[in-house]
Amino acid sequence: MTDPTAAATKANLKKVRTRHFLSAKQNGVKITGLTSYDQLTASIFDAAGIDFLLVGDSAGNNVLGYETTLPVTIDDLIPLTRAVAGAVTRALVVADMPFGSYETGPDEALHTAFRFMKETHAHAVKLEGGVRSAEQISRIVSAGIPVMGHIGFTPQSEHGLGGHIIQGRGDGAEQLLADAHAVEDAGAFAVVLEMVPSLVAKRVTEELSIPTIGVGAGPHVDGQLMVWTDWAGLTTGRIPKFVKRYADLNGVLTGAAKQYMADVAGGDYPAEEHEYTD
Ligand code: KIV
Repeated sequence: MTDPTAAATKANLKKVRTRHFLSAKQNGVKITGLTSYDQLTASIFDAAGIDFLLVGDSAGNNVLGYETTLPVTIDDLIPLTRAVAGAVTRALVVADMPFGSYETGPDEALHTAFRFMKETHAHAVKLEGGVRSAEQISRIVSAGIPVMGHIGFTPQSEHGLGGHIIQGRGDGAEQLLADAHAVEDAGAFAVVLEMVPSLVAKRVTEELSIPTIGVGAGPHVDGQLMVWTDWAGLTTGRIPKFVKRYADLNGVLTGAAKQYMADVAGGDYPAEEHEYTD
C-alpha cells in the first residue's frame, strides 16, 4: 500500500538520491523514470517530477540512427549524458554503459564508470546482465559509484537471445531470479526488469530488498521506466505491447511541418510581426 505522506515526501524532494529509491520501495511509493538524451527533454521531465532519467544506449535507435544499441560507444553517450545531467535539479541521472565497455571484467567496468562519473556528472551508471555482470557491479559499487542493474531482455545481447523475446518464461524464471539476486548481492541500488511476465516480476519484487523498475514487466514492480520517444508518440512503426503512448508528438510535428510549408508557399509566413524594421 502507498503511504500518502511518503508519496508527498518523495514529490517534495529537492534531489532524488539512491537512498530514496529504497525508501520508496519500503513505503510502497512508485518510482517513475524516462529516458532522455538531451537538455530540453531532461529539463521538462525533471520539472514535471520524473524521479530518474536514464541516458540509455537506446540513443543508438533514437538519436544516432542505428538499428540496434550495439554500435553505440562511450564517446557517443558522454555528450548526451552531460547535457541531461546539466539540465536537472531534482532527478537522479543514470548513465548507461554501452556494449563493449564492461564485459571483459571489473577493471574495464570501473574504468568506464569513472569516465561517465567524471566527464558527465551523472549520479549512477547502469549495465546489463545478472550473474554474468555481478563482479563488475561489485567493483563499481566498491568505488562509491551507484549501479542500476538490468536483467530480463537485455538489448545488448539481442543476437545472443535470438531477438526481442520475453525473458523469464517457464524454466527461465529460475534464471531470472538468480540474476536478480546476483545484482542485489553485488550491491546495486535498483534493478531494471525488461520484458518479463508480470507474475515473475512480482516474485522478483517480493524477494528483493532493492526496488525493481519495470520496462514491460507489468504492474507488480516498484517503478516504471519508458523510452521517452515511444512514450511521447515520436517513434514510428511497430512499438512493443507494453508501451502506452502519452502524446502524439509525431502527429504534432508532422502537422506543424505541413502548416509551415503551406504558409511559406502561400506567403503567410513571415507575416508583418516577424519582420525587423529599420
Ligand atoms: O537504453 C535504454 O533505453 C534502456 C532501457 C530500455 C532499459 O536500457
